[in-house]
Amino acid sequence: MSSALVGISPTPVEVPPVVHALAGRLRSGATVVPVWRNEYGGITVRLEEPEEAPGASSYLKWVAPGAACPDPLAEADRLVWADSFTAVPRALEAGRDTYGSWLLTAAVEVDGAVATSAIEPRWQGLAARSAIAIGVGLRRFHDALPTDTCPFVRTAQLRVAALTTGPTAPPTAAERATIAAALGNPPPVDRLVVCHGDPTVPNTLLDGVGRFAAHVDVGDLGVADRWSDIAVTTRSVTRRYGAGLEPLVLAAYGVAPDPERTTYYRALWDVEEAARAGQRRRAS
Ligand SMILES: Nc1ncnc2c1ncn2[C@@H]1O[C@H](COP(=O)(O)OP(=O)(O)OP(=O)(O)O)[C@@H](O)[C@H]1O
Ligand SMILES: [Mg+2]
Repeated sequence: MSSALVGISPTPVEVPPVVHALAGRLRSGATVVPVWRNEYGGITVRLEEPEEAPGASSYLKWVAPGAACPDPLAEADRLVWADSFTAVPRALEAGRDTYGSWLLTAAVEVDGAVATSAIEPRWQGLAARSAIAIGVGLRRFHDALPTDTCPFVRTAQLRVAALTTGPTAPPTAAERATIAAALGNPPPVDRLVVCHGDPTVPNTLLDGVGRFAAHVDVGDLGVADRWSDIAVTTRSVTRRYGAGLEPLVLAAYGVAPDPERTTYYRALWDVEEAARAGQRRRAS
């Protein structure tokens, strides 16, 4: 069981009774295997059906009410929309009750094998190949999804507005002004695409031989400059696999480095993380 744990610290992931109960309601008889705990206490478990093919497994993500991560129901809307254009898991069910919100997705299968997260140790051990697969996958995502019919928008301007007026905005006007001033104006758009929104190493799935298979975790999907994704992906690869791999990701994606946009979108990401952490502190 512990070999399946790929979550961030602390491990092993404790699966709360409410998630066990939900899993039992959704897939009675399935084995609950803990997979991931996010920074906001959200839990993902794999539900393994007895005696079934590997692809028949499903993944259940559960998030407590008010958690500062994307709502699983909003993610379900994005998954359903993206599913006809690109490789993402099929949304099976989503819901909300007094204990939290949840999303059940089908395991992604390629050639009879379940795709696995690029954060798994075996892919980390093949870091250069995996970095290339991640760059290829991000380019495929950006090329596949149509901006003109995408109902979701996540431009830098909207993100900055959310930081200064949304639920994670700090309480004082001075703090909000500091955020806006520190970020400065967004750089001009290089290319508008449908961005993944959280295109990190753990959110990329690879097939049995390490090729790009699919993306998960599309709760922040929306139309934006492609650098809002590229900047996050290259930093995630460097942090998770080691230094020196950024050029491989960029070459696999097919773009020259863009230091100005990369710096801006990483800073925007960091300010959002800090805002969510601030909201968590204020709520506790
Ligand atoms: N349908 C699926 N098929 C295969 N693996 C999946 C699937 N859904 C989720 N996973 C695995 O579970 C992990 C957690 O899922 P997900 O990324 O949606 O959770 P999260 O809490 O939103 O993550 P984050 O910490 O990135 O915000 C993924 O990184 C992936 O390894
Ligand atoms: Mg994730």
